[in-house]
Amino acid sequence: MQPPCLWGLGMHTPARCISNTDFESIVDTSDEWIVSRTGIRTRYHVEPGETCSTLAVQAARRALADAAISPHEVTHLLVATFTGDCAVPPTACLVARELGIQAPAMDLAAACSGFLYALEVGRGLIALHPDATVLVIGSEVCSSRINFTDRSTCVLFGDGAGAAVLRAAAKPGAPLLRDVILHADGAAADLLTVRGGGSACPPILGATIGPEYFVEMNGREVYKYAVRLMSEVSQEILTRNSLAVSDVDLFIPHQANIRIIEAVARKLDIPLERCFVDVDRLGNTSAASIPIALAEARAQGHIHPGDTVLLASFGGGFTWAAALLQF
Ligand code: ACO
Repeated sequence: MQPPCLWGLGMHTPARCISNTDFESIVDTSDEWIVSRTGIRTRYHVEPGETCSTLAVQAARRALADAAISPHEVTHLLVATFTGDCAVPPTACLVARELGIQAPAMDLAAACSGFLYALEVGRGLIALHPDATVLVIGSEVCSSRINFTDRSTCVLFGDGAGAAVLRAAAKPGAPLLRDVILHADGAAADLLTVRGGGSACPPILGATIGPEYFVEMNGREVYKYAVRLMSEVSQEILTRNSLAVSDVDLFIPHQANIRIIEAVARKLDIPLERCFVDVDRLGNTSAASIPIALAEARAQGHIHPGDTVLLASFGGGFTWAAALLQF
């Protein structure tokens, strides 16, 4: 069976730019520390009225326009996020309402690997329904779950959304989704959490909320897992497809920290010139990171006809994944 095709790509980030120096007045930090430890210089945060669904709608409109597909043709809608507008309804239903889509719509929670997980679900839907048009979105308002008094996490995250339209048929110039590999292991689940509001840590009417409502992370440990697992899954998908690292024209890793990207590139022995980086401008946008980076890489001319593009992600859970695109 022919692999499905990404007919269109789109991304959107909010307009409000937050620089490292903006954080200097909030927590005990410095531009020098943030740049040297993370590579991040700016990130974008929503303003009042902007939400996970509004960012998703903007990215989806661009992906649909790029695909030259009307919203009415969408048969399935997936939104990967950990920062949905609300617990109920699903953010995907709010996006569907705004775009005039009447189709099955659901949210998917796999932290920063959410977009690659959603792509794999999309691949499965197309295998079941060869006429399907699946709109896959990764959208996050990470700033809604950041503890702005915790300097070790608040500087890391940004908001944004990226989207792709998936169909079985090939489209000239559009990439084939050649393969996806997903992994998860809950053994180290406690190293990266947002616990507050869930059924294990339910909200109590009238009680003040604590730090458990925000991202809590053992950064040093997460860093080690991220480097090892993204390298391993990248090698795994190349081996499964009889490819060598030298066959990869562009590597698009999850954009969490430039040091993680550099360490993975070193382990894979892939030159940094072949790694796409936007973490310096956007910070870590979790499930939106990969689709934003993919849309940006193509728009900026980093991808050429015939290119093989490797995507790799890592996130809370832990979840990690890789995908191969053939342009
Ligand atoms: N400004 C100044 N100092 C800081 C800051 C800050 N923003 N944050 C932490 N520090 C301090 C710490 O308090 C610590 O001080 P101490 O030695 O006096 O205790 C010191 O810097 C070193 O702290 P470390 O945590 O060891 O710093 P490290 O070099 O590991 O960098 C970082 C921290 C950037 C979080 C790094 O560990 C990292 O990137 N980890 C991976 C995190 C990540 O990418 N998570 C996301 C992946 S999954 C997902 O996307 C959801």
